[in-house]
Amino acid sequence: MIVDLDPAKPELLEQAAALLVDRMPEGWPTRELAREHVREMLDPARIARGFVRGRQLLGWVGGQEHYTNHVWELHPLVVRADHERRGVGRALVLDLEQRVRDLGIHTMFVGSDDETGLTSLAGVDLYPDVVAHLARLRDLAGHPFGFYQRLGYSVIGVMPDANGFGKPDIYLAKRLTPP
Ligand SMILES: CC(C)(COP(=O)(O)OP(=O)(O)OC[C@H]1O[C@@H](n2cnc3c(N)ncnc32)[C@H](O)[C@@H]1OP(=O)(O)O)[C@@H](O)C(=O)NCCC(=O)NCCS
Repeated sequence: MIVDLDPAKPELLEQAAALLVDRMPEGWPTRELAREHVREMLDPARIARGFVRGRQLLGWVGGQEHYTNHVWELHPLVVRADHERRGVGRALVLDLEQRVRDLGIHTMFVGSDDETGLTSLAGVDLYPDVVAHLARLRDLAGHPFGFYQRLGYSVIGVMPDANGFGKPDIYLAKRLTPP
């Protein structure tokens, strides 16, 4: 079942923070930083949705406006390690997409970092022909860009060195409604 994450569900919020630290320690090295991010995502202008089974949070997704009235950003997305590849991530993304579509927004954007050398874009100098490197993008070890492509997202760009030299952020987007 997918539910709103909100302040009335502190047990779920604590699990949401724990998932960030467990699965994305580069972004959230401490539980306190993760708690702060979860709190930020509860802002009524944003969306935070959790995939729950019983009292357990199996994954969660957040969304926020990126370009006023036109584009939302999906961030973050995390699935419990012992429940990967069972459709939890897909269900969360589709749920968020529908909510954002219902707001009249036509595009979902996501930035997917490569801080650990999972793609051909890591550990190399992408300048000066950044786009040529992007055109040759390859997965080396299970980077999530392949997950987003399965869900209909297109690679639309890359920010070289977004997380330090050789650690880019790969940009993807999906059209939610026809032009
Ligand atoms: C990326 C992540 C959210 C995927 O969630 P998941 O629940 O395992 O994904 P699903 O089971 O819903 O997979 C949907 C499809 O994508 C595929 N897929 C999942 N992860 C993939 C990956 N890393 N590369 C390529 N394809 C992938 C699945 O095989 C499935 O394919 P199908 O269409 O043939 O059924 C999850 O692995 C995760 O939390 N990773 C760590 C945190 C992270 O990287 N978050 C994203 C930050 S941008």
